[in-house]
Amino acid sequence: MRIPLVAGNWKMNTTVAEAEELVCDMLDMLDRIKGVEKVLCPPFVSLVAINMMLRGSSIKLGAQNMWLETKGAYTGEISPVMLRELCEFVILGHSERRWYFGETDEMVNKKVNAALNHGLKPILCVGERLEENEAGRTEEVIGKQVTAALNGIKPTVLSVAKNLVIAYEPVWAIGTHRAASGEQAAATIKFIRDILAKLWNKDIAQDLRILYGGSVTSNNIAEFISQPEIDGALVGGASLEAEEFLSIVNQTAEIKYPHLSSPLKGEDR
Ligand code: PGA
Repeated sequence: MRIPLVAGNWKMNTTVAEAEELVCDMLDMLDRIKGVEKVLCPPFVSLVAINMMLRGSSIKLGAQNMWLETKGAYTGEISPVMLRELCEFVILGHSERRWYFGETDEMVNKKVNAALNHGLKPILCVGERLEENEAGRTEEVIGKQVTAALNGIKPTVLSVAKNLVIAYEPVWAIGTHRAASGEQAAATIKFIRDILAKLWNKDIAQDLRILYGGSVTSNNIAEFISQPEIDGALVGGASLEAEEFLSIVNQTAEIKYPHLSSPLKGEDR
């Protein structure tokens, strides 16, 4: 069974003090929600402070990007070796990186490889733009992005199903308050799973977690999470409010584990 995962992508928001305050506001409650892997991805400058705050809790830390070399003359960049000391996850290939900072499929592929090789778990983002969606090219674009990002990755060596997470984030749904529908997202996620089955094998495709991202809030999370194909969410704007994020994680646990009346009571899971 795939353990659901909800990650908060804070993007370029929060000073160190604000990041600490936000974590403070949700730490206890978030820690107590069982059955869902919870990941916070603050800006680089807050990773050290938040890493200390999360020690001993069930909440994991992620970075929002990294460079693909381990060290050297890459002014302004952060390497997988540096991140590995602080966090377990790293978001890679986010559409904002692709479109604002010119990240190519080839670069994303090298980053995914580097992250896995250095023991980091990539949250690989893929997604089509509005014009591509409207032209009926979603599968073509997603197929190309997924295949390119995973090119040359050996599934067995890196136990990829355990370490890699994919997030389907249609670019037109990010920060627009215009989320995809649960059905649309599930259909594309199923398509990604089919690609993984062809690329590697059926078991990996079944075991690997695929999230939805794009304008997820406490009001629409249920629509996504109730789709069996969808294993969680990558949450931007709504992860910057403690109550919103808690509600999203809590609903995820409740929907994926319906036999427990309240995930907060499921302490023994
Ligand atoms: P959003 O961002 O939830 O604000 O739409 C999601 C993301 O970019 O990961």
